[in-house]
Formats: sequence, structure tokens, C-alpha cells
Amino acid sequence: MSTKRVLVAVVLVALVASGCTLRRTAARAGVFVGSAASPAYFSDATYTRLLGDEFSSITPENEMKWSLIHPAPDTYDFTAADAVVDFAEAHGMRVRGHTLAWYQQNPAWLTGTAWTRDEAIELLHDHIATVVGHYKGRVQQWDVVNEAFRAGTYQRNPWYDAIGPEYIDLAFQFAHEADPDAELFYNDYSIEWHSPKSDAVVAMVTSMVARGIPIDGVGMQMHVTGSGAQKWDAPDAAALAEQMARYEAVGLDVELTEMDVRLPTPATEEGLQAQAEAYRLAGETCVAAPNCTGITVWGFTDAHSWVPSTFAGWGAACLWDENYRTKPAYGALRQGLATGWPA
Ligand code: G3I
Repeated sequence: MSTKRVLVAVVLVALVASGCTLRRTAARAGVFVGSAASPAYFSDATYTRLLGDEFSSITPENEMKWSLIHPAPDTYDFTAADAVVDFAEAHGMRVRGHTLAWYQQNPAWLTGTAWTRDEAIELLHDHIATVVGHYKGRVQQWDVVNEAFRAGTYQRNPWYDAIGPEYIDLAFQFAHEADPDAELFYNDYSIEWHSPKSDAVVAMVTSMVARGIPIDGVGMQMHVTGSGAQKWDAPDAAALAEQMARYEAVGLDVELTEMDVRLPTPATEEGLQAQAEAYRLAGETCVAAPNCTGITVWGFTDAHSWVPSTFAGWGAACLWDENYRTKPAYGALRQGLATGWPA
């Protein structure tokens, strides 16, 4: 094709894409586009309209974590998580379950006891069999274990302390037993570029695959920062693609599972443009990678983002602002996803 024709094709794709939702753009590129969401905001009609129209996947932001879904040893409370799964089904969306073993958001009854190894295994099995069993056939992809590493070494949590690193294999085996059709992911942050931590995760999942542990993919959270004039701590496209390829080499899928790009607040125009570029590159890199199944953002509006309460002086991390106006990042992500459209 001549340069002129390529240019015309690119402009045409951009024009068509600009009239599409993220959801339609991603579907045409063959990937999911998702958001973390909470039923706490389901009474807000703008929130639910955008969530259902713009996204094809949903992750309950907190509702499936141990402290909410398993608040007492013999009590499971599915109310809030069910509301998210019901919403997804009513809107034809995939659900990413999050998460079955993590070191945070655990109930005091769990963290306050020194469990024996056998007790901890039984507890993990009971929890995973019950939760994954409850959502069998309704949750398509699970973050089975979340953030098992701290830099290049294991992060302590109740199961690591009682069982050792073998808890990770067990969690995946228990999840597979409970729903053999669900896709099972390991999920972590700061593994989007080359580092001791990304090496540790690659080594772990490579060993799991070699030993026949039922793992399907790795979630790269993609919580990244930037400050306008300064360089992003986000990986560039080549670094991100390189990490995705390491998993492809061992037959695993990847997904960007919790993307947001926080800015010093108040955000400047320069910051918003740099943020948009980070979202665009993420979309483009995912659709170019044969094993990337999609991108999930960790909340879609600045009105309900975890960032400002965690990082003082930072915020504005999402695609829509706090008044539900789209930011440059919205069009940029859509543009990045549209590069995956078939010719
Ligand atoms: O529900 C209680 C409420 O009853 C109470 O009044 C209020 C007072 O602080 O707290 C509420 O719980 C908060 C919960 O979010 C629900 O809003 C917790 O304090 C707060 O710590 C919790 O934060 C969550 C955080 O995980 C916990 O570490 C964020 O919403 C959630 O976005 C964040 O998500 C994590 C992913 O799961 C894993 N990767 C990192 C990501 C960001 O930290």
C-alpha cells in the first residue's frame, strides 16, 4: 500500500473510532475494556449508564475481598458482590473476580490467629471452593492470588506464614476444582517493566506452567504516576510489550487489570496530555500483543477513585473527571484500542 493510502486508512479508522464507545472499539479489536466498580454508586444513573455503555468487563473493586465476602469464620456475605455480577449480566459484561488471596483487606478473625499449616490449607480451600463455587459460570476470570511479591521476595500474608509459598499453587488448584472453565490469573503491580519483581513473577509462573498448575494468565495492574513536565514512571511501549512477550513465551495470557495514571493535583493541561499518552500507549500495546486479553481501569471517574485518599496531593487518575466529563485520556485510550482494528 502506498504511504498516501496508509495515511487515508489511518485517518478513516480514527474518524470511525471517534464515534464509538470504548466498548465497541475494544470489541472490534478483539479485547475487553473494563472498569473496577462498586455497587455503592449504582443509584447514580450517570455512573451506571457509562459503566454499562462504555465497558465490556467489570471488576468488583472491594466486594469479593475476604473482609467483605467472608466477614466471620462461618459467614459468607455475597450481597454486594452479587450486585456487581447481576449488573454485569444485565449489561452483557464479563466479570473479573478479585481476589482470593491477598495480604490486605483480610478480616481480623483471619489475621488475628496463628493458624497451623493444615488449618490454613483447609481455610483457603473452604474459602475458594465457596466463593468460586458460588460464581461458577458467572465469573469468567479470577485474580486468584494478588501481590504475592514485595520487590523480588515473597510478601507475607496469613497463608504464606502458615503454608509457605506453596499456598499459591494450592489456591490455583482449588480455584480450578471449583470452576474448571474460569480463567485463572496471578495479579501484581510494578511488573510492567523489567525489574527484580517482574523477574520473580516470570520465574514463578514459568515454574507453575512447567509443573502443570492451572494458571492461564498474569494481570499487570498498571497503577502509574506522572508529573507533567517530568518523565512518567509508566513503562514505554517497548518495555511493556517486552514484559507481555515473556508471558506469551510460556503460553500465558496477560491483561492490564487496574490501570490508572495519577497526576499531581490540580492537574495541568500538560499533565492531562501526558496522561492521555500513557493510556493511548497501553491500549495500542495491548491490542498489538497476541496474548493480551484486555485493559481494565481502576475506576473510570475521578469522582470515585482510590488515589486521592491514598496519595495526598495526587489524583485526576481516571478517564472521566469528577463531573463525568471525558478527559483527553478517554479519546486517547479509544484511539490506542482502534489501532487493533482489522484492516
Ligand atoms: O467499607 C469501609 C467503610 O465501612 C468505612 O466507613 C470506611 C472508613 O475508612 O472504610 C471503608 O473501607 C474502605 C474500602 O476501600 C471501601 O471503600 C477501606 O478503608 C479502604 O482501605 C479500601 O481501599 C481499597 C484498597 O484496595 C485497600 O487496600 C480501595 O478502595 C481499592 O481501590 C484498593 O484496590 C487495590 C486492589 O484491590 C489491588 N491492587 C491495588 C489497588 C489499589 O490499592
